[in-house]
Amino acid sequence: MARRRPETVSSPRRKKTASGPWWVDLSPSERLARARKLRIDPERIPRHVAVVMDGNGRWAEQRGLPRTEGHRAGEIALVECVDGALEVGIEYLTVFAFSTENWKRPKEEVDFLMDFARGVLERRRDELSEKGVRIVFAGRRERRVPRTLLAKMDETIEFTRTNSNLVLQIAVNYGGRAEIVDAARKLAAEAAAGKLDPARIDERKFSRYLYHPEIPDPDLVIRTSGEIRVSNFLIWESAYSEFVFLPVLWPDFTKETLFEAVREYQGRQRRFGGVAPVSTPPSRASGGGSRGEGRAGR
Ligand code: FPP
Repeated sequence: MARRRPETVSSPRRKKTASGPWWVDLSPSERLARARKLRIDPERIPRHVAVVMDGNGRWAEQRGLPRTEGHRAGEIALVECVDGALEVGIEYLTVFAFSTENWKRPKEEVDFLMDFARGVLERRRDELSEKGVRIVFAGRRERRVPRTLLAKMDETIEFTRTNSNLVLQIAVNYGGRAEIVDAARKLAAEAAAGKLDPARIDERKFSRYLYHPEIPDPDLVIRTSGEIRVSNFLIWESAYSEFVFLPVLWPDFTKETLFEAVREYQGRQRRFGGVAPVSTPPSRASGGGSRGEGRAGR
């Protein structure tokens, strides 16, 4: 039987696309058969997968190339990852493109990454949109981020707004602590204006002030390159995520790497602080790890 999901305001519905790849237009039963063939349990697909795309620099250095070539190769891996997510019916994919700490890199690399991010959006927008991908961004919009990139981000959000096969959240100038500080600032401003009673702030309320409160918490966080760190990525949202650390460098990431991580996730028991495996996470209001509505099938 097909997996049932509770309806949420932002829950994407599968959309038929005119020119997407063959697997975008699969019927629910075809999708089920496809997942089984990949040795993936169609009843326990992570709804939201988040990825730290790490290892571009090392990939390039191993080949005697400038680090920037690793980032270029990473663009193809990103498209692979999106295709894999669409193929197995992941609803939300978040990728860490540039962190609040990445400003510490040499100026030439920072400049390259800013221009590269703009270029990726320019080059891939139509193709991703045809596949039914809606693109949103998480991170601080501040003066250091070039206006040309911010404009391209806004254009991309608008262009892909009605797509509903997958939400691709791109973290640009993103830091988990910065996100929490930004939420605290908004809450404090409302409290100071007398619009909010501080005594009524709980986890559920707080999470509504994060960058994208409508996006469910990640079920699975993947980091490539063999590093075993969180690096300030989705630190509020990943409180109860399953983590999979892979030795593969990001440019070598393929759809099969994603499926491997999903299989690993499906072998885990999620208990959300309790003692028994849980299929529907408790809501934040009762101290659990999910944002908003409970989710079935995991
Ligand atoms: C980490 O590798 C990767 C990055 C800092 C950038 C990744 C960005 C992309 C693949 C493109 C994303 C752009 C958009 C708009 C989605 P690293 O440089 O830290 O590698 P290292 O750890 O081996 O040095």
